[in-house]
Amino acid sequence: MKDKGRVFTSSKNRRAFLKNGIVAAGAATVGAAILDNGLSAFGKGHEGPEERSGSLTPGDAAILRFLAAAEILETDLWVQYNELGGIQDSEVPGGSGSPPYVAALKVLDGDMDQYIHDNTEDEFTHENFINAYLASKGADIVDLEPFRTLTGSKATGSSGKPRLTNLMELTVDTSWWTRYRSRTKNPDFGDTFPQAIPSLAVGKHPAIPRTDDDLTPNDHIQAIANTAGFHFGTIEQGGTSLYPSLAQRVTSVEVLRIVLSIGPTEAMHFQTWQDKAGNAPPLTDPKNPTLVFPNLNAPPFGGEDFQTNLIMPEPTVFLSRSLPVCSIVRPTGTRGAAMGSAKFLTAMGLFRGQSPAFFAALRDLAADADEARRECGERDNHER
Ligand SMILES: [Fe+2]
Ligand SMILES: [Fe+2]
Repeated sequence: MKDKGRVFTSSKNRRAFLKNGIVAAGAATVGAAILDNGLSAFGKGHEGPEERSGSLTPGDAAILRFLAAAEILETDLWVQYNELGGIQDSEVPGGSGSPPYVAALKVLDGDMDQYIHDNTEDEFTHENFINAYLASKGADIVDLEPFRTLTGSKATGSSGKPRLTNLMELTVDTSWWTRYRSRTKNPDFGDTFPQAIPSLAVGKHPAIPRTDDDLTPNDHIQAIANTAGFHFGTIEQGGTSLYPSLAQRVTSVEVLRIVLSIGPTEAMHFQTWQDKAGNAPPLTDPKNPTLVFPNLNAPPFGGEDFQTNLIMPEPTVFLSRSLPVCSIVRPTGTRGAAMGSAKFLTAMGLFRGQSPAFFAALRDLAADADEARRECGERDNHER
């Protein structure tokens, strides 16, 4: 934990997260009760995992808990976008909007505020459903409220409440743009892909106005809206891969149904955002001239890898290079998928300012999910 680069490489402090109090009893209690339940479960010297899985297999419960954590974090970031750039209503309350930011987002699509609202509501329901399902099976749920400590935007329109995630210092990986346009490469084969917006993939960039100073000049707030536009796609393509990656290791058909039913909604989000990101106007941020949004339809960009209307996934190599190419989600490799997702979210700066305990907890949830194995019935075992 002292060495940031090794946060996600060691599993020695696995039990630390009980002390961090992020796993709650199925009754959805908070605060001290969480700690008591966690520690008492640990104190009883249970064999196997530290957390209660109820009637689920320990692996299924661990996968669902990691997904619950991912959804809680997703909800938190989407709430910040909705407070400033979406539609605040009874479905997605909080904040009062930032008209200049909303206007800049609408350059990408006139319905951006509606889409932001709907994506935010979807994440709320993912989080709530997975935790409620865990509780219904007598399994421990995930509660990250102890880590709601970050200061968010101070711009007019923000609720000002403490946050779990940081949208003001992002390093946005936009390689999904070229990954889904490649006909020959697949990250599951170790292939790598060029960035659509190279300058977003380095440095620290705000995706929401930090204060009202960020609302001018026009090209600056537009650069922030453009950053958000690409970040939306970056987040949702991650979810699009995470669910099928973990689905391969669930045991219960009902849990499989859950991950197969939520995962494709992430793909619906991704597809929408990929289309909108292509409408981000080319510009250079006047307050940070290193941040450049190029014209993706003109040299040295353009062509099959960058053209903005090529939003359907190109078929590519899948499973074996000797099989025909196939239009697929990529990556979907299952090995280490949860830890890969935690690293991906961390590398984008989403948790800048979070405590070592937060990173330990996230690593612990991911390690447990990655230890999950599909449990076969007796019949299956005989047939092997
Ligand atoms: Fe989600
Ligand atoms: Fe999502």
